[in-house]
Amino acid sequence: MNNLIQHIFEKIEELSPIHAKKLKKNLAGFDDLYYERANAFLHKYNQFLMKNDKTMDYAIDCYLKMNADMLAETIDFAHTGKYSSSKFEEVNKRVYANPETMAYYMHGLLLSQFLWKHHYQVYDYYINTLPTYATQVKNYLEIGAGHGLFISKAIEILDPQTRFTVVDVSPTSIDLAKNFIEEGRIHFILSDILDFSEESCYDFVSMGEVLEHVEEPLQLLEKIRIMLTPEGTVFVTTPTNAPSIDHIYLFRNVKEIQALIHEAGFEIVSEQHFLTEDVSLERAEKLNVSIMYGAFLKKRKTNIS
Ligand SMILES: C[S@@+](CC[C@H](N)C(=O)[O-])C[C@H]1O[C@@H](n2cnc3c(N)ncnc32)[C@H](O)[C@@H]1O
Repeated sequence: MNNLIQHIFEKIEELSPIHAKKLKKNLAGFDDLYYERANAFLHKYNQFLMKNDKTMDYAIDCYLKMNADMLAETIDFAHTGKYSSSKFEEVNKRVYANPETMAYYMHGLLLSQFLWKHHYQVYDYYINTLPTYATQVKNYLEIGAGHGLFISKAIEILDPQTRFTVVDVSPTSIDLAKNFIEEGRIHFILSDILDFSEESCYDFVSMGEVLEHVEEPLQLLEKIRIMLTPEGTVFVTTPTNAPSIDHIYLFRNVKEIQALIHEAGFEIVSEQHFLTEDVSLERAEKLNVSIMYGAFLKKRKTNIS
């Protein structure tokens, strides 16, 4: 199968024609580099699936199940204006510690990195910016690596001497990432990040889509600040108005995220927002359409500890 992205799209068109229409619009806007990256990655992923007696059709099923969950959560959110859970323990039990749910969620999320425009844009932002830090990073921490796509790319980009650590609360995520990356260089730790204690030792912390999974995101950012070296960098992403089975903290707009980052003692070195629908930023905020926010941060000098 040379063109895996095409195969995936055709299969989704067969199983979920309405959703396929939206994806078709996404794919039409992508450039050659996207197809090169997507097919190279999906080829590697397909080999991983085959080694585990699974097929790409299994991954597509996972993706559609994840979408169905999100649709149910979106309908609920439209009525209540709140996420369906607000307690970590509840989602931990229902999602992170539930191997069946977590497996389809993580495989689905992995495909979404190349099917959803905003997910691909976040990935593109990360892998285009990370080389800037290539020679400075000695000790890299990823919080909530999930499927492991981002850290697998960081290993390719950063210096071969870099030490890599992943902390994730879900055994299923750790197994998947471990298996998928096939890389002995990562130290995997199964833990809630809030129970993990290290001081001033990481010069790069990556945390994609985790801030909305904790009850007190300020506490988490403050903790990261303690773990970061004085000149260290944080890469963080989090969405506004994005109901999902495990989202518990609701950011209503980008300003709330920026304010929290400042309150935790960081300065924003660069930032981007990615729209999940074809509307302007103003309209997205007015209509509570989800926006993905991503930023590279440093400790604010005036607050150095
Ligand atoms: C939505 S996935 C994000 C995956 C990936 N980082 C990305 O950007 O696509 C969230 C991951 O964070 C993990 N997670 C959620 N809360 C956590 C916590 N308190 N401590 C450690 N990991 C957590 C989940 O198990 C899951 O693997």
